Amino acid sequence: MTVHVIDHPLLKHKLTYLRMQETTTDNFRRLVREIAAMLAYEVTRDLATESIAITTPVATTRAPVIAGKKLCLVSILRAGNGMLDGMIDLLPGARVGHIGLYRDPATLEPVEYYVKLPEDIGERLVIVVDPMLATGNSALAALSRLKGAGVTSMKLVNLLAAPEGLRAVQAAHPDVPITVAAVDERLNEHGYIVPGLGDAGDRIFGTK
Ligand code: URA
Repeated sequence: MTVHVIDHPLLKHKLTYLRMQETTTDNFRRLVREIAAMLAYEVTRDLATESIAITTPVATTRAPVIAGKKLCLVSILRAGNGMLDGMIDLLPGARVGHIGLYRDPATLEPVEYYVKLPEDIGERLVIVVDPMLATGNSALAALSRLKGAGVTSMKLVNLLAAPEGLRAVQAAHPDVPITVAAVDERLNEHGYIVPGLGDAGDRIFGTK
């Protein structure tokens, strides 16, 4: 498995403000959107290109465009939706699927309550988005569900990951590369990432 931790001063700066408990809902949303766009830039770095003939105002030339599989973003509800806008800013033609999972507060196990995916998802490169890779349980369930739907090429994108979550995804899905803005220290006894940023869904949607 490959883990790409994005090392960029602008991203680190934005992530620091995202972590602060005094960051307001509107600023939190804006920062998630901006960081997601930066992660979209990084996660598409290895896409294949092909050369096409074009005419500029000055000359006829050949220039590269994205080739190969079309993209599908898949948001793990509900916090994943916070990352969609920033990703779509850079990938406006991408299809979008949703997988609804909530964490049972007692067992921390994911419970599936909604799935809607493009019909041709098996032919697409799928980029799964979820701000927090904590225990990894939600990501594991989503990646297995997508493989069951015929997906053969996938990438996972998170804002923050815990080492526990990275290890869990690595063990079960070594074929899925992970792109993250930062890897934090650990999980606490409630399954929260430490130091983390709290509950990403609550902070994006202002529900607490
Ligand atoms: N989900 C969150 O929103 N935050 C965490 O720290 C862990 C899981």
